[in-house]
Amino acid sequence: MKVDIHFFPLNIEELLLKEKTVVVVDVLRASTSITTAIYNGAKEVVPVTTVAEAGKIAANTGGSVVLGGERNGVKIEGFHIGNSPTEYTIEKVKNKTVVFSSTNGSVALAKTKFAKFSLVGSFVNVSLVADFLIQRNEDFMIICAGKHNTFCIEDTVCAGMIISKVADQVTVEPTDAAVASLALYQNFGHSILEMLQNSEHGLYLQEIGFGKDLEICSAVDSLAVLPVYANNAIHEWKVEGKKMMA
Ligand code: MLT
Repeated sequence: MKVDIHFFPLNIEELLLKEKTVVVVDVLRASTSITTAIYNGAKEVVPVTTVAEAGKIAANTGGSVVLGGERNGVKIEGFHIGNSPTEYTIEKVKNKTVVFSSTNGSVALAKTKFAKFSLVGSFVNVSLVADFLIQRNEDFMIICAGKHNTFCIEDTVCAGMIISKVADQVTVEPTDAAVASLALYQNFGHSILEMLQNSEHGLYLQEIGFGKDLEICSAVDSLAVLPVYANNAIHEWKVEGKKMMA
């Protein structure tokens, strides 16, 4: 299977993803927070790119909506919660529609709205993502959220880990970019927390008081849930026995 990676979403043509399986990776912190929300029983997560859009959707959805998201790492004014995975608790999100807007993660997700499958991937659910790709056994592309359309090491190392797990089970044909992500994973994968703590965005999050989030975001396979984005919302992809079911 052919495996490709985009280090940030800038040049992605939405319509070209129509027949593709993609994984959106935003380790710090959108993918981790969305996965936490779904794990804690959110009915759905609706990713939106603008605050205005979030307000409109919330107004049309009724009372069980939670507005979550950040700008510059901190809660958006008027929203219920920010983008720390610690905020997506059972008490806050169970059976609720979470309308979610973050600086980079939501933008990357929006680009994949026409994809055949769009998985939300991060360290906390990396093996489930890889298992899905192994079972499908078809070409896939990883889209890293990056930061303002520049490279982020944490997303690329996580992408490398996904590809490495898939390559352990099936034959892959990686692009040069995918080979680079594998090399970064081999180099930094032995201490994911340290890599996050030394990353540009990790340093920023520590500076503004979210150091604890890096521990949560580095916990490999801590959340047994695979969120999938389809029809404008993210839901859990159900696993039955060894076979994944829609
Ligand atoms: C993003 O989408 O840019 C992020 O998840 C930023 C963050 O809150 O850490």
